[in-house]
Amino acid sequence: MNQNTNLSVFLFVFLVQCTAILSQSPAPAPAPPGPTNITAILEKASQFTMFIRLLKSTQTDDRITSELNGTNQGLTVFAPTDNAFANLKTGTLNSFDDEQKSELINFHMLPMFFSVSQFQTASNPLRTQAGGTSDREFPLNITTSGNSVNITTGIVNATVANTIYTDNQLAVYQVDKVLLPLKFFVPPAPASAPAPSKPKKGLRSAASSSGSDDDAPADSSGVTCVIQKALQAIAFAFAAFFLYL
Ligand SMILES: *[C@@H]1O[C@H](CO)[C@@H](O)[C@H](O)[C@H]1NC(C)=O
Ligand SMILES: *[C@@H]1O[C@H](CO)[C@@H](O)[C@H](O)[C@H]1NC(C)=O
Ligand SMILES: *[C@@H]1O[C@H](CO)[C@@H](O)[C@H](O)[C@H]1NC(C)=O
Ligand SMILES: *[C@@H]1O[C@H](CO)[C@@H](O)[C@H](O)[C@H]1NC(C)=O
Ligand SMILES: *[C@@H]1O[C@H](CO)[C@@H](O)[C@H](O)[C@H]1NC(C)=O
Repeated sequence: MNQNTNLSVFLFVFLVQCTAILSQSPAPAPAPPGPTNITAILEKASQFTMFIRLLKSTQTDDRITSELNGTNQGLTVFAPTDNAFANLKTGTLNSFDDEQKSELINFHMLPMFFSVSQFQTASNPLRTQAGGTSDREFPLNITTSGNSVNITTGIVNATVANTIYTDNQLAVYQVDKVLLPLKFFVPPAPASAPAPSKPKKGLRSAASSSGSDDDAPADSSGVTCVIQKALQAIAFAFAAFFLYL
């Protein structure tokens, strides 16, 4: 064997090692932070024990989690304090069945993110998570004056007392009253009128979720693959050369 052959063997082994190293899967990226946890936010703020209890018993907490994971419109939550619940007429909450409790909770949420300044340009009536905007559904009206924000349901006037949490996805505001929907207290629609379609209680369809984030990791592994293929080709050429000698 002459020196050229030795060099070829060395380079061949070297390149095989390189491709072996490059083929190893890269270290996994750190897991992205989970979706915002509304229960944790409210627990940290304290004085929302009753609202948390209702969120849990109606499984709305889980739906908020998946809603926030699959939306780009965000969510606004009006959280009444324990004091607000204590000020309800005795027996009010117990007079609601499970479906109404679920509607009550959804009535405290708007299916998009509102900052305080965005309330100033919101047009009444606002659609809540509980359903449509007619009086027989679940609308809310908002009035503002500067940074002061009031809410009326038709039977309750409430004031936004505090911003508990805000990012560009989720806003949680403290309110001083439980927002009772007019629908629970007005007589049912006259029989002659066409029955209003049942408000959709579920949160928005997951179909709107975008999968664009899924593409990101493909790039780097693509580059690795190209380099690896090139190195394999070179190694193969050296092997052929070596055999030829
Ligand atoms: C959200 O936070 C609450 C209270 O800290 C916790 O019990 C619950 O398991 C959390 N949920 C998720 C999905 O992490
Ligand atoms: C968030 O959504 C993605 C797909 O849109 C899904 O793969 C993932 O499991 C979801 N995470 C949670 C915590 O729901
Ligand atoms: C909100 O309600 C409070 C008390 O009911 C009232 O004093 C205030 O003027 C109202 N503000 C707006 C912007 O409607
Ligand atoms: C809410 O606002 C709309 C539009 O201004 C109005 O027609 C409706 O009567 C208001 N409802 C309440 C409860 O204030
Ligand atoms: C809510 O406020 C409106 C206008 O400010 C007033 O007419 C109405 O009586 C109030 N309702 C209650 C329940 O306080």
